[in-house]
Amino acid sequence: MQLTDIVHDYLSALLKPGDHALDATAGNGYDSTVMATLVGAEGHVIAIDIQASAIDATRARLEAAGCVAQTELLVADHAQALCSLCTNYAQTMSAATFNLGYLPGSDKSIQTEPESTLAALRAASELLKSNGLLLVTAYRGHDGGQAEANQVANWMQAVQERGWTVESHEPIVTGSRVPPILWVARKI
Ligand SMILES: C[S@@+](CC[C@H](N)C(=O)[O-])C[C@H]1O[C@@H](n2cnc3c(N)ncnc32)[C@H](O)[C@@H]1O
Repeated sequence: MQLTDIVHDYLSALLKPGDHALDATAGNGYDSTVMATLVGAEGHVIAIDIQASAIDATRARLEAAGCVAQTELLVADHAQALCSLCTNYAQTMSAATFNLGYLPGSDKSIQTEPESTLAALRAASELLKSNGLLLVTAYRGHDGGQAEANQVANWMQAVQERGWTVESHEPIVTGSRVPPILWVARKI
């Protein structure tokens, strides 16, 4: 089973009509569309990506699925955007997804970086309500990917020590390829 399928299974089990959710790395909009479909017209999804082309792709996917109306689309660095959102949306989100790295088929130099990822994770932890889920997928095969994953792992250990429940998933891969990793963290 792919990690994206596991993420979508968690979202399907958690999100209900009217919920609020957050996609911190919208990319082509797969996660945003799953979330927007689940929360329905009375819910609210905030989808962020640093690339305007990614937000355009996300908008097109949401429109095709008939759920763009309940989605707010932001072209921004996720650390800055999420810190700003803390003023109005603290402890309101049921789920937040991060799919780190670069967008396949696009400019690989535009990838998530540890410093802003960690700041965005801290802000997302403020935005989540109690029992909300933080789902973070990291890829470790590209330059900088393993270092970013190590920093996320340390951050996950710190929130676990504060009482959050954290589990991780790694697919079995053949050869020497380093598999991606998914953390599923439930806020206390
Ligand atoms: C692996 S892709 C996400 C794929 C996406 N989940 C989907 O369903 O298609 C990672 C995305 O993170 C975005 N990104 C990189 N740095 C970012 C940052 N600082 N803030 C927000 N988005 C960023 C990239 O532009 C890219 O679209």
